[in-house]
Amino acid sequence: MSVSVEPTSVDPSGKADPSGKQSATATTTASATATEELRPHAETAFADELAALAAQDDRPRPARWRMSPWAVATYLLGGTLADGTVITPKYVGPRRIVEVAVTTLATDRALLLLGVPGTAKTWVSEHLAAAISGDSTLLVQGTAGTPEEAIRYGWNYAQLLAHGPSRDALVPSPVMRAMAEGMTARVEELTRIPADVQDTLITILSEKTLPIPELGQEVQAVRGFNLIATANDRDRGVNDLSSALRRRFNTVVLPLPESADAEVDIVARRVDQIGRSLDLPSAPDGIDEIRRVVTVFRELRDGVTADGRTKVKSPSGTLSTAEAISVVTNGLALAAHFGDGVLRPSDVAAGILGAVVRDPAADRVIWQEYLEAVVRERDGWKDFYRACREVSV
Ligand SMILES: Nc1ncnc2c1ncn2[C@@H]1O[C@H](COP(=O)(O)OP(=O)(O)OP(=O)(O)O)[C@@H](O)[C@H]1O
Ligand SMILES: [Mg+2]
Repeated sequence: MSVSVEPTSVDPSGKADPSGKQSATATTTASATATEELRPHAETAFADELAALAAQDDRPRPARWRMSPWAVATYLLGGTLADGTVITPKYVGPRRIVEVAVTTLATDRALLLLGVPGTAKTWVSEHLAAAISGDSTLLVQGTAGTPEEAIRYGWNYAQLLAHGPSRDALVPSPVMRAMAEGMTARVEELTRIPADVQDTLITILSEKTLPIPELGQEVQAVRGFNLIATANDRDRGVNDLSSALRRRFNTVVLPLPESADAEVDIVARRVDQIGRSLDLPSAPDGIDEIRRVVTVFRELRDGVTADGRTKVKSPSGTLSTAEAISVVTNGLALAAHFGDGVLRPSDVAAGILGAVVRDPAADRVIWQEYLEAVVRERDGWKDFYRACREVSV
């Protein structure tokens, strides 16, 4: 027998509220800056763009998709619609990667986003779910302690003891709700989840059903259901996925930005968005400092200077785009609160040091060598060199 899961734990705005209480700011607001939420979900922050895309999209949509695969890709990569509505790019990277990811979700295979830390796996997964299902909150966070109930279902013990096992006593997981409603479920950090718990996903992804033996029932996935998992290939390898489970996924690897210009563009865009949500003044002259942070991170990551002439050692940290974003955001906050609002070398120097020197012994030596051999000699980098020296002693 099949049963349906009522979306009782979802509030009218479509957002899950773990406390079970109605959110005070549940109304959908057009822009991120206009809400009280510190970080609105993608479907709230970009509600205008999503509505414009859905309204103008006349291409075929897979069952229960809010828009066509083409419109989902446009939402992620940006573009201008026929009526002039500008869709901002969320992901900056190869178009083909996004197309493959979106297409996968329209098939019976699930999507695994793989990559080194800070390559926007979580970010892309949230935006895909927001565009396809209008809800990015059906989320399971993977940790070493994630239990099977987080993927299948749990029980409300008061109900269970009072009335025995029944549909009312069952607490559906986000994955179960996504199956019942034909939505996109998300599993973060899949490879951190213990192998036996991961394997719970095998039946869900291949049979598209979730048995409830206690009730002699099952929840069958309806059309529109799919799942996006993310995994970090630094923490623990993808080998930690059993081969049986791996076969149920199409893997899409998100690369590091291919050029310094692309990375500067990503950092500038995100810093601007984050800065606005934190009410920081925009820093029109900040682009030089952003370029500098990105250059330092790329050179240390690649083990060679941008001109290819000097080899440098790589420190133990990942120095990802995400870390560059947070170094610049912190710099902007310093400039706004303790400086004249202009982003200067001294505002980013401490942040860079903190990101580079993770291991106090080895990384500090690597940083000093880089500072003396590369930064000191570079034209126009005197202020930056001085600022770094000041925080490094
Ligand atoms: N190519 C990119 N395009 C747009 N934004 C990017 C890109 N790369 C990184 N970012 C930004 O970096 C930030 C961090 O990304 P995210 O948290 O999704 O990384 P992740 O790959 O999930 O990292 P982790 O493995 O640590 O979980 C986000 O704010 C995202 O906007
Ligand atoms: Mg992540």
